[in-house]
Amino acid sequence: MPLPKWLNDAIFYQVYPQSFCDSDGDGIGDINGIISKLDYISETGFNALWINPCFVSPFKDAGYDVQDYFKVAPRYGTNDDLVRLFEEAHRRGMHVLLDLVPGHTSDKCRWFRQSALPERNRFSDRYIWTNNAWHRPEGYNWVVGNADRDGAYMLNFFLNQPALNYGFNKITEPDWQIHYKDKRVKHTFDAMVRIIRFWLDKGADGFRVDMADSLVKNDPNKTATALLWSKVRKMLDKHYPQAVLVSEWCNAPVAINKAGFHCDFLLNHENKLTDFAFYKKDEQGQSRAYFCKTAFVSAQNMLARYLYELGETQGNGYICAVSGNHDVVRLSEYLDESERRLAFVFLLTLPGTPFVYYGDEIGMRYLPQKSKEGGFHRTGSRTPMQWDKDLKNLGFSSAPTDKLYLDVDRSDDAPCAAQQARDKNSLLNFVRTIAQLRHSRPDLQADGEFKTVECGDNGVLCYRRGKNTYVIFNPNEKEQLTDVQIGKVIFAHGSYTQNYLGTWLSPQSAIIFEK
Ligand code: NOJ
Repeated sequence: MPLPKWLNDAIFYQVYPQSFCDSDGDGIGDINGIISKLDYISETGFNALWINPCFVSPFKDAGYDVQDYFKVAPRYGTNDDLVRLFEEAHRRGMHVLLDLVPGHTSDKCRWFRQSALPERNRFSDRYIWTNNAWHRPEGYNWVVGNADRDGAYMLNFFLNQPALNYGFNKITEPDWQIHYKDKRVKHTFDAMVRIIRFWLDKGADGFRVDMADSLVKNDPNKTATALLWSKVRKMLDKHYPQAVLVSEWCNAPVAINKAGFHCDFLLNHENKLTDFAFYKKDEQGQSRAYFCKTAFVSAQNMLARYLYELGETQGNGYICAVSGNHDVVRLSEYLDESERRLAFVFLLTLPGTPFVYYGDEIGMRYLPQKSKEGGFHRTGSRTPMQWDKDLKNLGFSSAPTDKLYLDVDRSDDAPCAAQQARDKNSLLNFVRTIAQLRHSRPDLQADGEFKTVECGDNGVLCYRRGKNTYVIFNPNEKEQLTDVQIGKVIFAHGSYTQNYLGTWLSPQSAIIFEK
């Protein structure tokens, strides 16, 4: 089945709803706040959104502990507000992905409360329980003593996130493990499909799928989990051919080719592209990241695994490189602004579908602080969006400071969107230029071919995108020489000179050209 067409030119913007824009002055972001900022998002060049979970929840894990999948959390608004967000986004040619958490619920979810009862009922098999409170097999985390049912229940993540039961692939303890093909666990799968259809019917364009690989247990090669997802894909192809599923799987060949996801995230996991590009450090704590101006490393390691996954999945789906997300320390903690500009050129000229985390486009900082809603170290990357220096709470909210979800960056030089919008040399306008360039050149979009042209020991990287668009980088703080001849320049950050030795690229330069 062909991929939804809109993905080819999609650039996603991730919105953490609690911290984006508060429209009603209660100190927490909401859906009407997001609607009020759609023009900003679209003018910056982002034409698709992913919104972190916005459903009823006790918020022990920022909403990844869903209590009611069918209802928007009152702190964000109502289902009608969310429908209006879909409509307003569509009116601007934008698409909206919600966040689907299929692997676990909150322990406050009605399904779980029912499942915890000692009497058998239709939810008894909805979660994974052993058949005896004292039996807690190794390899997974279990809770016991929190319910009257004689059994221990499996966790999928935090203490308050019991694992939904999609069954086991390899059965080692038949007394309580249920095979994933058993009718008793099909109800869990059917419930997940109902949630998907409910929101697609209301106008959502798809989902980012949390821990997508976590469904079936004892499934080391993920064949059973992939099989379940491939059924979801079949259903989408038939009934919602423009809907999109983006997996948090981080193994594109499995997620895309086997499970049928349209896109898979590439996160900063060991040996992944963004790890080498942005985060890598040596044993002394010195940055060895490709975009660090003093690291002086070849792009070879950075590209190795990526190019393999790209080759394996070409034509079937897209790999999503990200500037960051709500789970990682912000990019600005690793790369300074001059380095980040190059990183943005890279991110926005790769094949697949790029994701920019809210605030990264203006260079928001990582602000370590006390944990909020299960954030722990992640809390520092979840602070309110900085809209305007001249407004109360930087324009995030009109609430008294002590009522804010998290405080805004109070430093004098806190980057803000309104001020950067007026400064033609700002990071915001830089990102905007590259994003617009991508929209204007099909070569640079998701489908365009990627071919390495040069990957030198001196750090110079040049690749061709599509038919005849080239991107070349010198991330180093010193001038570097390359054999690559620059053609007709489309965009230049930095400069170059050509002489009988070759092409000299100025320090920290990125040039897009055609030949
Ligand atoms: C991944 C999400 O991105 C993270 O924020 C969450 O805590 C876990 N999955 C558990 O749902």
